Amino acid sequence: MSMFHDEFDHAPGLRYLNHAAIGPWPRRTSEAVTRFARENLRLGASEYPTWLATERRLRERLARLIHAPSRDDIALVKSTSEALSLVAFGLDWARGDQVVISDEEFPSNRVVWEALGDRGVEVKQVSLAGADPEASLLTACGPRTRLLSVSAVQFASGLRLDLARLGEGCRVRNVLFCVDAIQQIGALPFDVQRYQCDFAMADGHKWMLGPEGLGLFYCRAEIRPQLELNAYGWHMLEHLGDFDRRQWQPARSARRFECGSPNMLGACALEASLSLLEEVGITTVAAHLQMRIEQLLQGLAAIPGVQLHTPADPDKRAGIVTFSIDGHDSTQIYQALTAKRTICALRGAGVRFSPHFYSKERLIDEAVQQVRRLAMR
Ligand SMILES: Cc1ncc(COP(=O)(O)O)c(C=O)c1O
Repeated sequence: MSMFHDEFDHAPGLRYLNHAAIGPWPRRTSEAVTRFARENLRLGASEYPTWLATERRLRERLARLIHAPSRDDIALVKSTSEALSLVAFGLDWARGDQVVISDEEFPSNRVVWEALGDRGVEVKQVSLAGADPEASLLTACGPRTRLLSVSAVQFASGLRLDLARLGEGCRVRNVLFCVDAIQQIGALPFDVQRYQCDFAMADGHKWMLGPEGLGLFYCRAEIRPQLELNAYGWHMLEHLGDFDRRQWQPARSARRFECGSPNMLGACALEASLSLLEEVGITTVAAHLQMRIEQLLQGLAAIPGVQLHTPADPDKRAGIVTFSIDGHDSTQIYQALTAKRTICALRGAGVRFSPHFYSKERLIDEAVQQVRRLAMR
């Protein structure tokens, strides 16, 4: 593992615990982008076939990362929000159809469904607060429910849902299953087949350590033709590159969701970042991340007055730990930590820490000590 620490070169004194917002790039990604810039300066797109090869490798890496049956199941999109919109504005809704979500969703996975209100679609928000949030979600799915859409890991509390159970529950109820996976992919293994996902999406700039502006959209092959397309262009055609052809049809592959020129700069960067995750191996990534999370949870729990808002059960959490301190304003705690270069976020019920597999034990200890000192003020 230690060799992978060389892949990160954070400024001295910086404790970067904010991967649930935006992950820093590995060294190889920074170098790949520098090479790409230089190539553009010197050669323009003369070597375009090598760019296409990078893009193909990216699709293959993403397919492996989420255990999709084929790279043809992966569309490269701008963001998680864009992919959610492809689903919401692609399905043929009838008035009275219902979408079930949780009441803790990031806005992207709520507003996109609420935007269907004028088509007569009703959004049902389910509390995850009980002892069995999966049961609450499935019980809420009634005869009018067309789709269940949840985040794999809640962005504020860090609660991770049992996706295999939800997927099976959706299948037996004949409900489509959509997973906003941005807070899980790259942090923990993810398996669209085991979870029986109809749709899954994630941006690359968090746990996958890529740049903003490039994400993945998985759509189960059997459902793909059912999604109506709302964006058209040359790149999404079955006969890509045959510019003189007058008869056309959308690509059978997930490329049908990519209407125009690809984000090659983003692909170059994300491909490099994923090459690191694949070299380390996602199970090793997850194991190391869980050690850091355990360290954070134990360290914070030992501080008088600290309330943890993230479940202690390893099956119910991922890479997020959110806490508050009795009698202290979380905004002030957040600002004090940030001023000391411990990069974190203010979310939900408190301050959110999100390390990654390469985060050093010592940095986590320092962050916990900072919280301890703030709690004693
Ligand atoms: C759960 C969740 N979904 C979606 C997003 C936004 O993703 P994007 O910017 O790729 O649309 C975030 C970002 O914080 C998130 O935490």
